[in-house]
Amino acid sequence: MGKTFAAITPKYPHILHGGDYNPDQWIDYPEILKKDIELMKKAHINNVSLGIFSWAHLEPKKNEFDFKWMDEVIERLYEAGIYVNLATPSGARPHWLAEEYPEVLRVDERGVRAHFGFRHNHCMTSPVYRERVKIINTKLAERYASEPAVIMWHIFNEYGGECRCELCQQAFREYLKEKYGSVEKMNHAWWARFWSHTYTSFDEVEAPGAISETAINGLWLDWWRFTTYQTTDFMKAEIAAVKAVNPAIPVTANMMGLYDGLCYPDMAEELDFISWDSYPYWHAPGQNVEEAYRESFTHDYMRGLKKQPFLLMECTPSTVNWRPISKQKKPGMHRLAVLNAIGHGSESGLYFQIRQSRGSAEKMHSAVISHIGTENTRVFKEVAELGSDMEKISQKIYGSDNPAQVAIIYDKESKWALNQSDGPRNKGLDYDGLCTQYYKYFWQNGIGVDVLDSRADFAEYKIVIAPMLYMFHNDIQQKLRDFVSKGGVLLTTAFTGVVNETDLCFLGEATSEKLSDVLGMWVEECDALFDEEYNETYLDDKSYRLKELCEVIHTTTAQTLAVYGRDYYKGAPVLTKNEYGLGHAYHVAANCEEALIEELCRMLVKEAQVTGVLGAAEIPEGIGISCRENETNRYIFIGNFSDEEKTIMFSAMNGEEKKYKDILTDSEVTGAVILGAYGVLILEEDI
Ligand code: GLA
Ligand code: ZN
Repeated sequence: MGKTFAAITPKYPHILHGGDYNPDQWIDYPEILKKDIELMKKAHINNVSLGIFSWAHLEPKKNEFDFKWMDEVIERLYEAGIYVNLATPSGARPHWLAEEYPEVLRVDERGVRAHFGFRHNHCMTSPVYRERVKIINTKLAERYASEPAVIMWHIFNEYGGECRCELCQQAFREYLKEKYGSVEKMNHAWWARFWSHTYTSFDEVEAPGAISETAINGLWLDWWRFTTYQTTDFMKAEIAAVKAVNPAIPVTANMMGLYDGLCYPDMAEELDFISWDSYPYWHAPGQNVEEAYRESFTHDYMRGLKKQPFLLMECTPSTVNWRPISKQKKPGMHRLAVLNAIGHGSESGLYFQIRQSRGSAEKMHSAVISHIGTENTRVFKEVAELGSDMEKISQKIYGSDNPAQVAIIYDKESKWALNQSDGPRNKGLDYDGLCTQYYKYFWQNGIGVDVLDSRADFAEYKIVIAPMLYMFHNDIQQKLRDFVSKGGVLLTTAFTGVVNETDLCFLGEATSEKLSDVLGMWVEECDALFDEEYNETYLDDKSYRLKELCEVIHTTTAQTLAVYGRDYYKGAPVLTKNEYGLGHAYHVAANCEEALIEELCRMLVKEAQVTGVLGAAEIPEGIGISCRENETNRYIFIGNFSDEEKTIMFSAMNGEEKKYKDILTDSEVTGAVILGAYGVLILEEDI
């Protein structure tokens, strides 16, 4: 049974519909500003994100502020019943700031400082930048934090990137001093004796990069950890400024899903709730279904950061303008994608952007209101219809839970280490691809998944999958040991548990550091396969392809379920199962073709006795299922991401046909249902 979460936006506890709105671009067009509000009402918009890139208009000259235009916009929006996510404008700075203080601009890997330009171009360490941000954030908070219209702070815009200026280098050295205490400890953690790179003082440390150190993997990891630390520290300072004025307004920062530049779990702790910007590549030939489960996985990762509902802060109403080929969303796809986000825990469908820019870099990016400027466009009409759907479901869905009995470990630091390390396949190990392939089975079968970093607690799950978890840290060995011994079902895959948190390989044969006790096996060596090369295995007389990585393993206590079919390790185990305490630990020693991944997931589900929300219903390929639940009701979201009509056959329970209510159409659904391409259903049942 699910639960009901406290509202993440208590001042306006409803599903939000709207998005980024940049009226400062249109100050000279008062008629347009007026029209915007009329059109927003027609589109069922109840919320906009305001002021994200408005610094130059809020503080045109140093310490000279102009809030009049914003006062008017907020007032008019509120009169129309439209609430505001007020942004801190720190994602882009005005000319005067960079002119007077060049130190606020970033320095790249070659030591070159950027000139004024683009947007996310500033040093997170610079005391001057921090000071100027504090001033403008405080001013904004003093003026607006108690406005009834303002329901949250949108801090910055998409934190990301790195700076290698001298201030950052020095802060990095301080961070390392604090972390290691002595240079000897750091040398050992980084294995710095290699190539005579031993440091004699912290002062010798430089950020890794194009013209500096590249060979020390531990240095890279600590640099990325530092970048996250420094960005989080900057973000905390931004939050402190606005909270000092009114602590009751919740804060969020729009994240970028699986973005690799930051370790989001570190940042999540500082935010009241998570929000993220999602731009899947819909309609690339043959890719929709893959894009859909990757997208759903990312929603689950974002939700898992705080294990509570989140906001979809940005998505495009139709097309972006920054891909080699930027496709329009075909009719229905926008509605499907937004309702899918809601199914995975979003309390919103918010867009970039409400009104399309007239000029500059994003003028071709779609918007709710296009250059045509009326409601007579396909995109506007689809947005308006979706807004009306959202109003309809808001009360039922808002605050509900996404129950999950399965956890997939998705660990950013492990991914950094994996990608940074030279190894068996420098041609690429697709960590995200592998994690999402394991996810697909559950997504298709209506089995809720939490996607979690290795610092999470796994006790409450029935199944844990750790795809290619190359780095063991955060005491994950002990957590998985406890999990299995208490009855959990674990699956690990090739190249799991190779190194510790600074990328030092674990030593020894079958060791508990590598979790060999739980897995009942140990890894001797790992073969790499060319793209066109395959090994094979048999399971229930069916043959499956193995690819990319093939570990040669030896069992201690595990049972062998399948063996390699070729090469010098023909006959050696490739799939093992070990009984450990009350549970079972599986290891698959090679990367597998999709059909085998599905088979493995089926095996885990059977072992752990987990069932999907639609029971034994027949669910065709291309359908994705998610589920929200509160104390009394379950809401099953069924989306057809394929380009064809699909039929879902519901299964009878105890000889009786199951009956659901479709809350979008208020009709009864039973027996079978036909879903057109990009169709979506939200079925209600009592629990
Ligand atoms: C990002 C940004 C927005 C906008 C969109 C365009 O997500 O946050 O400001 O540039 O991309 O797709
Ligand atoms: Zn810097």
